[in-house]
Amino acid sequence: LSSSVYLFDEVESTNSFLLQNLGQLASGDCCLAERQSQGRGRRGRQWISPYAGSLYLSLYWRLPGGVAQAGGLSLVVGVLLVDALESLGITGVSVKWPNDLYYGEAKLAGILVEMRGQYGEPADMVIGCGINVNLGVDAAAEIDRAWTDLRLVTGEPVDRNRLANAVIRHLQQGLTLFEAQGLAPFIERWRRHDRYLGKPVRILLGESEVLGVAAGIDANGALLLETEDGIRAFNSGEVSLRPL
Ligand code: ATP
Ligand code: BTN
Repeated sequence: LSSSVYLFDEVESTNSFLLQNLGQLASGDCCLAERQSQGRGRRGRQWISPYAGSLYLSLYWRLPGGVAQAGGLSLVVGVLLVDALESLGITGVSVKWPNDLYYGEAKLAGILVEMRGQYGEPADMVIGCGINVNLGVDAAAEIDRAWTDLRLVTGEPVDRNRLANAVIRHLQQGLTLFEAQGLAPFIERWRRHDRYLGKPVRILLGESEVLGVAAGIDANGALLLETEDGIRAFNSGEVSLRPL
């Protein structure tokens, strides 16, 4: 696949850049920036990215099957990022449903999938990946939770060009497979890296919460929870997963 790569020193958000230029893009095109002035997480949360040293990457993909075909995409991306890291010899990274990578108890990377499209028409997908590579003290001081980066994980500097190359290659190949076959080829790989599988967790649903044991994902990518009332499935739009 030959693709365009839009490279910036600073941009508001690599996701926003692609969303503002959808008309010019082909599947596999991407945007990378050294810094983001308004990096975004899920549901309007902030992704701390004002300092250079990490990887802020967004990739465009067109799904012919439309938004209906997009279920589970952020899970697929999580698996593909783990694969990309493994191709560089970085092992032991786990996935947290629906959109995070962890190492031990600390967040290593986040995924933000945004889509545009009418039902029944092809959909435009923008897949954003923020991978902490070498956060530095200034950025670290701004993050309000347990975090880690690849320098801490591996104990040595990680070449961001090699990392970007591996991530783009794995995303392009993996999304081609996802487009053809959906989530099915990825479910077993998700299980293998699922950090909460078999563990007690709570699901936050707005003000209320549900307790249970995490039981993996279903064919649509919904989170399965074993509760006192049997197995329940949760979709990612509405809820957050937390350890008990
Ligand atoms: P959820 O489980 O609902 O997705 P979350 O707490 O993981 O919840 P996200 O929206 O996925 O929330 O991630 C955004 C959060 O990640 C921010 O609120 C902040 O706490 C944290 N964060 C921001 N920047 C970084 C970073 N560079 N590295 C690690 N964590 C970060
Ligand atoms: C999350 O954990 O909530 C997702 C964080 C996603 C951050 C990446 S960095 C590149 C891309 N551009 C953004 O503004 N967000 C994503």
